[in-house]
Amino acid sequence: MSNIIDGKSFAADLRTSLAAKVSILKKEHQLTPGLAVILVGEDPASEVYVRNKAKQTLEVGMKSVEHKLDASTGESELLALVESLNQDETIHGILVQLPLPDHIDEAKVLNAIHYEKDVDGFHLTNVGLLSTGGLGVVPCTPLGCIMMLKDRLGSLSGKNAVVVGRSNIVGKPMANLLLQESCTVTIAHSRTQNLADVCRAADILVAAVGRPEMIPGDWVKPGAAVIDVGINRIERDGKNKLVGDVDFASAAEVAGAITPVPGGVGPMTIACLLHNTVQQACRQHKVAMPE
Ligand code: GUN
Repeated sequence: MSNIIDGKSFAADLRTSLAAKVSILKKEHQLTPGLAVILVGEDPASEVYVRNKAKQTLEVGMKSVEHKLDASTGESELLALVESLNQDETIHGILVQLPLPDHIDEAKVLNAIHYEKDVDGFHLTNVGLLSTGGLGVVPCTPLGCIMMLKDRLGSLSGKNAVVVGRSNIVGKPMANLLLQESCTVTIAHSRTQNLADVCRAADILVAAVGRPEMIPGDWVKPGAAVIDVGINRIERDGKNKLVGDVDFASAAEVAGAITPVPGGVGPMTIACLLHNTVQQACRQHKVAMPE
């Protein structure tokens, strides 16, 4: 088996399995899971993400609604839209695309989404449920990472896991998930001393710092599983290129398993968003997630 973890094909398999679940929910429960995505402003990268989300939502047979608001939209107008979607029985998941313009309080908006319609896992109730091992919704990127790790390694129990990066979106929830899998978890960050040595001790190394190719191959323990969450646009030899937080060429020579950029974690994130929406639809309607 190649040591490269193919996130693109893993995500395609996950979408196929979700499409089958959606079909059962429609037939047996007259339930069509619906996802609403709100985009404020015209950030080009966000527009691409939102378009892909809508396309894939429809492809698995779910309902997709997009709300594109002007960059000058006020916080109270955005909160009113969120509240109307909270009340809308055809919508089971609400995603507000980040970042939001500076004049809007991000935390206030994220916490205005009903926690049972939160599909990002950013609502404080879901953050709390994740850190206490409860049945909340798990942030999409870390969920995709843990799915790929379990698929490749089986049990993660007792492994030394190092997460580089302490963001609320990836680093902290990733550490919580690894802890739930009974790993010994270290969260490293920009102030960590001897970062190279900390990384070299990892059986599982998750890089989520947003610094292009910061982790070289000689920081990777031979045979370790390396998950690269970074998506960094750089210019090299006069061309624009996407690279991760790990130097892929040198790390792939020593890693037992490694995700490439692009084609690793990225495609899994949207597939997990669809998974979370189906899960929330099932919870709201008190039906079991189809097998
Ligand atoms: N912007 C970039 N990634 C994400 C994400 O996972 N969720 C939301 N809501 N916005 C994002």
